[in-house]
Amino acid sequence: MVKILAIGKGTQDVFLKSDEFDPHKEGKHMYTHLPLGLKMEVEDVHFCTGGNATNVAVTFARQGLESAYLWGLGEDPASQSILQDLDNEGVNTTHVVQARDFQSGYSVIMIATNGERTILNHRGRAFGRTGRHNFNLDVIGDYDWIYPTSLGDGGLPLLREIVDMAEKHNVKVMLNPAGPELAEHDKLVALLDGVDVLCTNKEEMQMLVSGETCEELALHALNYVPVAIVSDGPNGVVATDGKTIVRAGMYEDVPVVDRTGAGDAFASGFLSQWAQGKSLRESIVFASANSTSVVTKIGAKAGILHKHSTLHEMPIHEKPLNQRSKE
Ligand SMILES: Nc1ncnc2c1ncn2[C@@H]1O[C@H](COP(=O)(O)OP(=O)(O)OP(=O)(O)O)[C@@H](O)[C@H]1O
Ligand SMILES: [Mg+2]
Repeated sequence: MVKILAIGKGTQDVFLKSDEFDPHKEGKHMYTHLPLGLKMEVEDVHFCTGGNATNVAVTFARQGLESAYLWGLGEDPASQSILQDLDNEGVNTTHVVQARDFQSGYSVIMIATNGERTILNHRGRAFGRTGRHNFNLDVIGDYDWIYPTSLGDGGLPLLREIVDMAEKHNVKVMLNPAGPELAEHDKLVALLDGVDVLCTNKEEMQMLVSGETCEELALHALNYVPVAIVSDGPNGVVATDGKTIVRAGMYEDVPVVDRTGAGDAFASGFLSQWAQGKSLRESIVFASANSTSVVTKIGAKAGILHKHSTLHEMPIHEKPLNQRSKE
């Protein structure tokens, strides 16, 4: 069985829904209009867990892979919810380092009546007071793939350590870099050498390589990595493994309830199939189905597909890349 280790922050996401979160109320933007001292009724509360690494670990587990999670968690209620969710999903949490002065992230997400959201976010503390992690990165050697993401402050040196450890043990790496990593362009590009699959959205790929269209971006990314995937929300996705290029449209035009976790479901959906030897095309179809399902439910995990879910056809084209010369 394929073994995948997800590494990175966990969070508790508390979703609040209320008719009061109406962006058009009294012709004002709702969130400039929460008067001091106000007590506002909220109709609907959903307690979910998030954090990119915990979300992707759940896709891998639901797809029947051996899924494990590595990070620092505290003893706070958010950390306990994260552990409990992962345990319930059958994710191996034995590599988690738990300490009292660690704290998981906590977000309050106000979902407006039009589906937009405003997030109040506490980042958490995964390294304690020393500011230095004490994870045992040697465990990476026990896995076929790793998926590091959202490594918090100072994430890039840690990402470097993780990717180096993977290279040392011949472990494959999928990367879906987050904001702090993308902010350090040169260092991030320097470590792409050790990355096997790079998956980002269009704006993020534009921060890494030049190009206007998803196709140009994916092809340019091939100069750094063997497999490149560029997603563009409801506009679809382009993926290439250097042999063929796949362009896919929207899997299904669904009502979007909450788009939290779309990118995670897409990237992890891809890897859950690709790591099992499925084709580029099959992996993109599943990635699209998984992310489309996630945006129809509140929270990043609820819509993640289980093994043997029935998939349907989608607009997708594949063509060979043989005429392309490396730039
Ligand atoms: N409105 C939508 N309707 C249907 N599917 C969607 C929609 N938005 C996103 N998706 C699905 O999710 C995938 C990833 O979305 P997107 O390209 O927005 O990633 P992202 O910007 O990385 O997301 P995130 O903000 O979660 O990181 C898309 O390729 C698509 O399959
Ligand atoms: Mg993303």
